[in-house]
Amino acid sequence: MSARVVIAGNWKMNMTPSQARQFISELTPMVAGKDKCDIVLCVPYVDIPAAVEAAKGTNIRIGAENVHFEDKGAFTGEVSCAMLKEVGAEYVIIGHSERRQYFGETDETVNLRTKAALAAGFKVLLCLGEVKEQRLAGITDEVVSMQTKLDLAGISAEEMKNVIITYEPVWAIGTGLTATPEQADETCGVIRATVASLYGEEVAEALTIQYGGSMNDKNAAELLAKANVNGGLIGGASLIPEKFTAIVDAANA
Ligand code: 13P
Repeated sequence: MSARVVIAGNWKMNMTPSQARQFISELTPMVAGKDKCDIVLCVPYVDIPAAVEAAKGTNIRIGAENVHFEDKGAFTGEVSCAMLKEVGAEYVIIGHSERRQYFGETDETVNLRTKAALAAGFKVLLCLGEVKEQRLAGITDEVVSMQTKLDLAGISAEEMKNVIITYEPVWAIGTGLTATPEQADETCGVIRATVASLYGEEVAEALTIQYGGSMNDKNAAELLAKANVNGGLIGGASLIPEKFTAIVDAANA
């Protein structure tokens, strides 16, 4: 079974609920019927109800940008799986490098969040990737392989059906620097081989592995042409309907 292509936006801390509604009403006719990929928008928590409402009956699915692993309790500022379920989110990003860099997330918390989200029935976009110093030191393969193993610890082959791994080289995020298609393909290939070593070839082949990091309307086609790149997680370009649509188009070519 070959992997389903998933084009997802990560809005980060952008857009209010009314802007989300407006964006989705503009995007809907532009991506209608483009069904060779799944289309997902991961949006700020407070935007989710408006986004779900606006996307009802369309081919756009809505996700969150994080979720906590505990059911409830004294975790000020966090949001639970049950809360996200009730407002209609279907996907959740976990382990984004900005969470790891600025909010102290570790492979251990990423693993806990991933397990909780899968148990609650979400599709998880699990993000990992090396920082610049690691790439320059020639240890990218070791880093992504280790992250893959730590972040997936205790997750079953059955649960892997709801996991998407997003390879995001940290040096390429928001910098305008993109991994070359060859670099993206190679490192996504290392991640796939690691998954094969954990779960076998069948699970590895069916796994969607996205690339993220300055993916845009100009470079999407050549990145998506690579065998190990099954989609993208898009930051800046996901805030502009025309650019996001061009990436969806590249996945539908
Ligand atoms: P940019 O596309 O803005 O580089 O962001 C990538 C990213 O972090 C997506 O999660």
